[in-house]
Amino acid sequence: MRVLGIETSCDETAIALIDIEKRGSEIVYTVLGSYIHSQIDIHKDYGGVFPALAKREHARNLVPLTKKAFKEAGISMIPTDKTDIEIVTAIESTVSEKEADLIRSLLHSDLRFNIPAIDLIAVTKGPGLEPALWVGVNFAQALSKLWNIPVTPVNHMEGHVMGSIIHSIEPNKQHVATPVEFPALSLLVSGGHTEIVLIEDWGAYTVIGSTRDDALGEAFDKVARMLGLGYPGGPEVSRRAAEARLNPHKSEAITLPRPMIHTQDFDFSFSGIKTAVLYLLRDSFNVQNRDEAQERLSDEIRNEICREFEDAVTEVVIAKLTKAVQAYSPTALLIGGGVSANTYLRQKLTDLGKELGIPVHIPHHHVTGDNALMIAVAGYMSSQTYTQEIVKNTAKTSMKAEGTLSL
Ligand code: KG4
Ligand code: ZN
Repeated sequence: MRVLGIETSCDETAIALIDIEKRGSEIVYTVLGSYIHSQIDIHKDYGGVFPALAKREHARNLVPLTKKAFKEAGISMIPTDKTDIEIVTAIESTVSEKEADLIRSLLHSDLRFNIPAIDLIAVTKGPGLEPALWVGVNFAQALSKLWNIPVTPVNHMEGHVMGSIIHSIEPNKQHVATPVEFPALSLLVSGGHTEIVLIEDWGAYTVIGSTRDDALGEAFDKVARMLGLGYPGGPEVSRRAAEARLNPHKSEAITLPRPMIHTQDFDFSFSGIKTAVLYLLRDSFNVQNRDEAQERLSDEIRNEICREFEDAVTEVVIAKLTKAVQAYSPTALLIGGGVSANTYLRQKLTDLGKELGIPVHIPHHHVTGDNALMIAVAGYMSSQTYTQEIVKNTAKTSMKAEGTLSL
């Protein structure tokens, strides 16, 4: 089955095309193309993602990225038998009038009268920034109507789970997705979410723990901001922490708490550690804001703070995951989300797997952050094996099929 994946939940516009099928118990996939247009440069000045700008950029980029994907994958197109009026009606009946940029873009694109040889459209329906999500959902609905191809909604966090089984993205080559036996546990760490999910089967998810305040990626970004580093902060904090670790003597003057590390649940809290960094800067270094941090703190001190922060949060994550493994005896750990790019965390997770004797599947570096490959895979899996309805535990989770957007 050939699947078009569409992802617009935050600040990346992403499109992917895959060929994917089940062969016995194996899932075999070929990446035909995967494109990500990052908006980081646009949002950098705001120190975070600015929703209205994200929406505008998605509306600008979706059509050209999709055309590029079809062209480079050499997907054959057949002309539609719809009349001009039917085409315009299809677009206007599926795309909200609030999406003027997207409507204009579709009305001027040859996507409207050429039907590609694909079988399914998979689109992220949430969680994410609502204005950003709507562009992708409207786009998917319009294409579905124009081409008479079904569209399936995908939960973004489920997409990140699928990222862990995409171990290779080498294009135009068949790969067997990492086989998973159940129950498995997933650790999802991104800019908006931090959760541990029990997976009893594809589609049967129970969130057993989550953050009570900030997400892990958000904490990285906020600490980076306090230290006068750029956005997004995760990669820079990680780079500096690694530099600090080259020095075998860890500074004893710089210590941070390990919030909730000893609690019996599987929940997290990262806002306290962010506040602890604030107090550390104020009380130990007389630094009140990011400009002062930039001017007065040596690189060495900033690197040391990054190191202690990374040590602290990694210890908490590993402790909670260990506890969850003891409680649920999973057959594997599936790691996902932007923070899974973190080298130190990857190392500690690998060590944990060895120690506990269970496989740990960490996404290929190209699919740790937001991308449409994981969305295409998740869309295929749900279309084949289950419906969104069997997603369990609606009480406390972003893994539920969120009701904010309906397809
Ligand atoms: O999954 P993602 O791309 O977007 C969301 O769904 O939120 O995650 C983005 C988050 C950001 O907070 C970013 O700082 C963090 O992932 N991140 C990292 C690293 N690379 C990205 N955090 C720590 N270390 C990294 N190397
Ligand atoms: Zn994400």
